[in-house]
Amino acid sequence: MSQSKNSPFRIAVMLSGRGSNFAALREHIVRENLPIEIVLVLSDQPEAAGLARAKGWGLNTAVVRRLPKERSNAEFNVDLARAVARAKPDLVVLAGFMRILTTEFISEFRGRAINIHPSLLPAFRGLHAQRQAIEAGVKLSGCTVHVALEELDAGPILAQAEVPVLADDTEESLAARILKEEHRILPAVVRDIAEGKIRINVDANGDVSVQFPKEEK
Ligand code: GRF
Repeated sequence: MSQSKNSPFRIAVMLSGRGSNFAALREHIVRENLPIEIVLVLSDQPEAAGLARAKGWGLNTAVVRRLPKERSNAEFNVDLARAVARAKPDLVVLAGFMRILTTEFISEFRGRAINIHPSLLPAFRGLHAQRQAIEAGVKLSGCTVHVALEELDAGPILAQAEVPVLADDTEESLAARILKEEHRILPAVVRDIAEGKIRINVDANGDVSVQFPKEEK
């Protein structure tokens, strides 16, 4: 999936909220002058702060709403897939996208969509991962970048970072400590994929596997 000689590696970002991971990713691309182009920032929330940031930076944006309620999640996912496919991304980056992605979306981008999650997967999937970590009494938590598949927070792991969970941590203080690491590992993974240092393979059965050529001797 590494970029061809002269054309930049194309990424689409999907988000639902403040977009700090998206901002960190863009900042990394700009600072390092990487041949990576953010071809779309898509949100299901028209008011998302991340979307406003994207517009401020002059990026191509789109809103695909879940509404009206009568619409099935499958139909919503078809619309999402269409909107993202139009931008022809090499990679889809889920950066705080808070909707369940079904096979209607995933099958279109199998092996080409990654997600950031605020726990050390496979622990604490789903919502409120930081609260789950505190309630479980673990001493260590962190964040994970993984391939996005139909099963929530469950695809092959691409990178993880650990942080301590302190005795007096609240959900907010732990979330802030984890977020700093998210802002480091998500851009690093996107860059590694663009540079071919992480390879995501999809076989004829649709099974996804990951290779880290830089680690191979
Ligand atoms: C992050 O904690 C991310 O791991 C989770 O949602 C949050 C998004 O934060 N999936 P932001 O919108 O990137 O600031």
